[in-house]
Amino acid sequence: MSTPFVIAVDGPAAAGKGTLARRLARELGLPYLDTGLLYRATGRRALDMGADPADPVAAEAAARDLTPADFERPDLRGPAADAAASKVAAIPGVRAALLEFQRGFGARHGAVLDGRDIGTVVFPEARLKLFVTASPEVRAQRRHAELLAKGPAPSLDQVARDMADRDARDANRGVAPLRPAEDAKLLDTSELDAETVFQIALSWAVAAQKAT
Ligand code: DC
Repeated sequence: MSTPFVIAVDGPAAAGKGTLARRLARELGLPYLDTGLLYRATGRRALDMGADPADPVAAEAAARDLTPADFERPDLRGPAADAAASKVAAIPGVRAALLEFQRGFGARHGAVLDGRDIGTVVFPEARLKLFVTASPEVRAQRRHAELLAKGPAPSLDQVARDMADRDARDANRGVAPLRPAEDAKLLDTSELDAETVFQIALSWAVAAQKAT
């Protein structure tokens, strides 16, 4: 049996990886998993339990108790869930609890997964690894526009500050910090539109499929 075709799409928040990963999956007929949602749902659950998302025991319990309903909640993308997600994501027990689900998801039929550690930890053997970045200014603007489209939003300055805090937590944590895999292809989207980014990544994906 051939190994499943997995594409890892990693990078910081609002670099464009979700849009890209979703489109690649649709184009290639692969399942798609936004792994950030697992951490968001865990953070949200910890808050609902009245716990501090940075508390390892509570956060790990929240990760182990996740149910499909936790992913359907409308409040997984707001600033409170952003901050809680990046706190639970720094806890080794939480990462371990979520690892098996992510591996199982990709191992069955192949998949496109986006996150922070897909190419380094979850699927180090992925056949294509993308590391999608953009400048902090561009990412803050994109995130601000996303929030505004949904309703009242914090100021651009506030969004930029929150993002810098999250970046620092994601990049400096002891377990699975945000960094490109050695064999990842870097894609800086600061000056590229979504269509161009998609076409570049698709050409790499098609080449990777042919090579196997
Ligand atoms: O991609 P996102 O912004 O929805 O991710 C939410 C948080 O979860 C973010 O702080 C990083 C963390 N995360 C992670 O540590 N590992 C992943 N594979 C995906 C997300």
